[in-house]
Amino acid sequence: MAILVTGGAGYIGSHTCVELLKDGYDVIIVDNFYNSKPEALRRVKAISGRDFKFYECDILDAESLSKIFDENKIDSVIHFAGYKAVGESCQIPLTYYNNNITGTIVLCEVMAAHGCKNLVFSSSATVYGAPKKIPMTETDPVDIEGVTNPYGRTKLIIEEMLKDLYRSDNEWNIALLRYFNPIGAHESGMIGEDPNGIPNNLMPYISQVAIGKLEQLSVFGDDYPTHDGTGVRDYIHVVDLARGHVAALGWIGKKRGLDWFNLGTGVGYSVLDIVRSFEKVNGVTINYKIGPRRPGDIAVCYSDPTKAKEQLGWQAQRGIDEMCRDTWNWQKKNPNGFDNAD
Ligand code: NAD
Ligand code: UD1
Repeated sequence: MAILVTGGAGYIGSHTCVELLKDGYDVIIVDNFYNSKPEALRRVKAISGRDFKFYECDILDAESLSKIFDENKIDSVIHFAGYKAVGESCQIPLTYYNNNITGTIVLCEVMAAHGCKNLVFSSSATVYGAPKKIPMTETDPVDIEGVTNPYGRTKLIIEEMLKDLYRSDNEWNIALLRYFNPIGAHESGMIGEDPNGIPNNLMPYISQVAIGKLEQLSVFGDDYPTHDGTGVRDYIHVVDLARGHVAALGWIGKKRGLDWFNLGTGVGYSVLDIVRSFEKVNGVTINYKIGPRRPGDIAVCYSDPTKAKEQLGWQAQRGIDEMCRDTWNWQKKNPNGFDNAD
């Protein structure tokens, strides 16, 4: 069965392609390398020991996308391609709306024109906005007012758009996967997260402090109502997240229509829990100081992952120590990410 993976050279996409290839799927990757490098694809091949088709293509380019569907018998699409930097989305919102929303419209139109109506979409826990209760369950309402940035709003708008698409045509099978905080790397240390410039997210920042590229972590606030005052999140190992996509494909194969699922562990860790675990597991010291809160941050966010367990048959397997170990393994083996490889 052939699966088209948009954004397959990126962080989550590359790990998902490894799992798909491992499970015997034929994989076709589309990426324009806006935020990724060709080396990631060479390593996907090396890890899996299997080849796949690759098209360097922008998903906004309907004609090229259409040719890919003409040339291949595509059963389902996993759609990762999009822009994801929260801060940047506030500076250039139209670029984000265009790439994320128009990109998804173009993709769905081309899919429909080729009779391919099976889609797995990369959504985010951000669609819940400011949490009304913890843990977050799929019955909680989405909250456009509570989403603090254009990036997050693109995810919510795409979810609503895909629901309308399904209402208009019940032949579609669509899984909306709401990721919590993906971290970690493949255990081989060959692929991992390779952020551009100074990382915004916690784990890549910690690992760059550990390797000496950055001097000090600033912990954004220690006066939140949490066990140690620092923000609590549901960190999930990227390989577990990747397995969640394979499980979603199985669900789609049963022609279930449209539904949405939390992909998280159900366990919340604070910023200082992560720092301490990283230090303990990897035998390193993280230089940090307590700084002010980051605007837009919430105190606590973690999932109830029961629905994914019951309906997708999926559950995260890897704990915080493995997440810290694998991040460090990737960082040590690739101090400059994929940069010196091309
Ligand atoms: P990433 O930036 O590493 O991967 C996205 C890939 O899409 C990149 O390889 C990029 O080059 C490609 N791309 C972007 N626009 C494209 C276009 N127009 N045409 C073709 N390719 C294009 O990001 P990621 O962390 O792997 O995230 C994947 C998806 O999951 C994104 O949609 C993101 O919004 C979503 N998501 C990520 C997180 C996270 O914390 N990483 C959390 C929630 C949701
Ligand atoms: C952020 C995005 C979210 C996106 C997610 C991807 C915001 C408001 N939300 O979530 O839309 O889907 O990344 O993983 O930006 N922290 C520090 N110091 C740092 C960096 C982070 O203390 O240098 C803290 C944060 O305050 C937070 C925790 O670490 O408590 C996690 O932060 P981060 O990795 O940026 O993820 P989120 O804020 O949960």
